Amino acid sequence: MSADTQKLRSGETAAAAPPQTPAAAADAARAGDRDANSMWGGRFAAGPADVMEQINASISFDQRLYAQDIAGSRAHCAMLVDQAIISPEDGAAILSGLDTILSEIESGRFTFKASLEDIHMNVEARLRELIGDAAGRLHTARSRNDQVALDVRLWTREAVDRLEDALRELQAALIAQAEAEAETIMPGYTHLQAAQPVTFGHHLLAYVEMLGRDRGRLRDCRKRMNESPLGAAALAGTSFPIDRAATAKALGFDRPMANSIDAVSDRDYLLEFLAAGAILATHLSRFAEELVLWCSAGFRFVQLSDAFSTGSSIMPQKHNPDAAELVRGKAGRVVAALNGLLIVMKGLPLSYGKDMQEDKEPLFDAADTLQLCVTAMTGMVRDMKAEREALRQATDQGFITATDLADWLVRKLGLPFRQAHHVTGSIVRLAEARDCALEDLPLAAMQEVEAGITEEVFEVLTVEKAVASRNSEGGTAPAQVRAAIAAAKERFL
Ligand code: ARG
Repeated sequence: MSADTQKLRSGETAAAAPPQTPAAAADAARAGDRDANSMWGGRFAAGPADVMEQINASISFDQRLYAQDIAGSRAHCAMLVDQAIISPEDGAAILSGLDTILSEIESGRFTFKASLEDIHMNVEARLRELIGDAAGRLHTARSRNDQVALDVRLWTREAVDRLEDALRELQAALIAQAEAEAETIMPGYTHLQAAQPVTFGHHLLAYVEMLGRDRGRLRDCRKRMNESPLGAAALAGTSFPIDRAATAKALGFDRPMANSIDAVSDRDYLLEFLAAGAILATHLSRFAEELVLWCSAGFRFVQLSDAFSTGSSIMPQKHNPDAAELVRGKAGRVVAALNGLLIVMKGLPLSYGKDMQEDKEPLFDAADTLQLCVTAMTGMVRDMKAEREALRQATDQGFITATDLADWLVRKLGLPFRQAHHVTGSIVRLAEARDCALEDLPLAAMQEVEAGITEEVFEVLTVEKAVASRNSEGGTAPAQVRAAIAAAKERFL
């Protein structure tokens, strides 16, 4: 739950009566002790049951859309005036009333009412209190269906921009660490078994690439999102001579959405944002998992700062990587948000259905969670200290230069790679039996396996040589890592 939502839940809405039994709720409704919603009550003889208000109202969470709702109303109002659909006087009154409401909300003086359901009706009701009947003209040629679609699009567009900025910061922090550790040697892993030596900088740059794709996915969904649903009205368009291009332009959209039914029923942009977010959360979680491993006793590859760790109330020696663990754990919420909204949408006939009100809480939660996790990661990466000794020492185990020996047999003795692989396997077995590293095996022992091996082989058996030799494009040699850092700065920062 977001901080805003929490505040409201513990205030206004939570203060509302706890759930009644359906019978008691029906009694209350029958007794007519509550007016039908004044915004649409014309057709209604009785007010909603208490429990109806509880299931129906979204104001506890959609109040987060207030700025977007007011911006949308301002653009709509200006267009209505320009098209001579409402008078300039009414238009001016509406705009100044909206300004007042904005400052009331921002200074915490606005009372949100669950009886008014959502942000749209809370704002409109307050506008009526402030300017009287002219307020009723704002909703000409508009429905809450296109209004909510507009508000959520505007909100999500901003969330995408915020997240992309945060991702750039995280990439910058990773690139700075990669630059400092371009020559720091560590084991590279497959199957979490030491595979070949790599540089720590190279490993960190892998995450820079992953985050670069995340940014690409966000930018891509922003592009498709950036069309205006305003003017679709309830679902079919309107008989008023509106100018959809004008409102689209005023709100920074590329164009109006082409189909009014699609405009009110589409939530693809949220699914795309959440899908991009779920992949991003997965990346962050993998990195978080590595940090947790790396600062554990088995590795000691990095030190996380006190600022991102906690102690134990019982074990004085502990320095727990809680922030990393939480980033790993919070991925679950983001993936769940995507999953939840997919399930909400899958059975919905066109066009708008109230089910779609369920889009907001997962959206807000996922956006908040992603922003928080990326920011926390950035702090952890900035403060992280690589333990160069431990990283280097870890390459002493696991015969990590075995591939280099095989490659040498191919290059110098002309063996087919498969055969070289086999020969190397036998030499590794020998080293294992003697409990020594490959480079500590006597030449004679290796020659028993393959007579052609010479003294020269020792040149490729050190990890420094092995790393420097992997100088292919995108490879782990420090020269490549430096080139990759320069390119990453150009591409991402
Ligand atoms: N609170 C609603 C939502 O979030 C706004 C749209 C309601 N439209 C309607 N016709 N009831 O979806």
